[in-house]
Amino acid sequence: MNKDVIIALDFDSKEKVFEFLDKFQDCKPFVKIGMELYYSAGPEIVREIKKRGHKIFLDLKLHDIPNTVKKSMKVLSELDVDMTNLHAGGTINMMKAALEGLTRADGTRPLLIAVTQLTSTDQESMENDLLIKEPIDKVVMHYASNAKIAGLDGVVCSPLEAGKVHGVCGENFLTVTPGVRLAGDAVGDQKRVTTPLKARELGSDYIVVGRSITGAEDPVKAYKQCVKEFLGE
Ligand code: C5P
Repeated sequence: MNKDVIIALDFDSKEKVFEFLDKFQDCKPFVKIGMELYYSAGPEIVREIKKRGHKIFLDLKLHDIPNTVKKSMKVLSELDVDMTNLHAGGTINMMKAALEGLTRADGTRPLLIAVTQLTSTDQESMENDLLIKEPIDKVVMHYASNAKIAGLDGVVCSPLEAGKVHGVCGENFLTVTPGVRLAGDAVGDQKRVTTPLKARELGSDYIVVGRSITGAEDPVKAYKQCVKEFLGE
């Protein structure tokens, strides 16, 4: 299994992204492009970063009727990304349609990961706004099982949930985990954080690291520290 460190490129312009990536001369990190960058810079930014030799997780969290998601996923797979995602709340049928759309004519496809409940959703808002009355942990695991049933490759979750997800969905079901900080770094708006080393011990498959790398005085050094701790390299 290809465990890796993914850098969240949370920048609001193409110029800032390339200024950041230019610092990496002797390695090509796996990077995450989110909605802000994609909607401001468009699909061209994906092609340009790909051309520079980076693997890409396109984090657009699709959620619509199955037919629309299927056709949108086809467009994303033509962009040649390595990983993308959707909301498991779109139902098993939507996730199955997404996989069909994502699969290229030669049978290859990017990894497809589900978001279960966003970490911004808590028990209270889930009950009051969504009328879901079950405990949130149970809902998260149920959505993860649905993703597995639909044939997806894994879920986005906290490193602290990675073991439980593997227990429910199997060791090969991927856990892609944000909420990671190098020891001593500011937590910011994340509620519960773990270090790359701890995430490794907890069984995460991919860690997504933003500010601990992008906000570091020496981002390349911070990235290499994450790789060393998480992959033991
Ligand atoms: O800067 P930081 O390491 O907190 O960035 C984490 C990245 O992971 C951000 O791009 C954020 O949007 C994303 N993310 C998250 N929590 C989730 C899902 C995605 O922090 N539950």
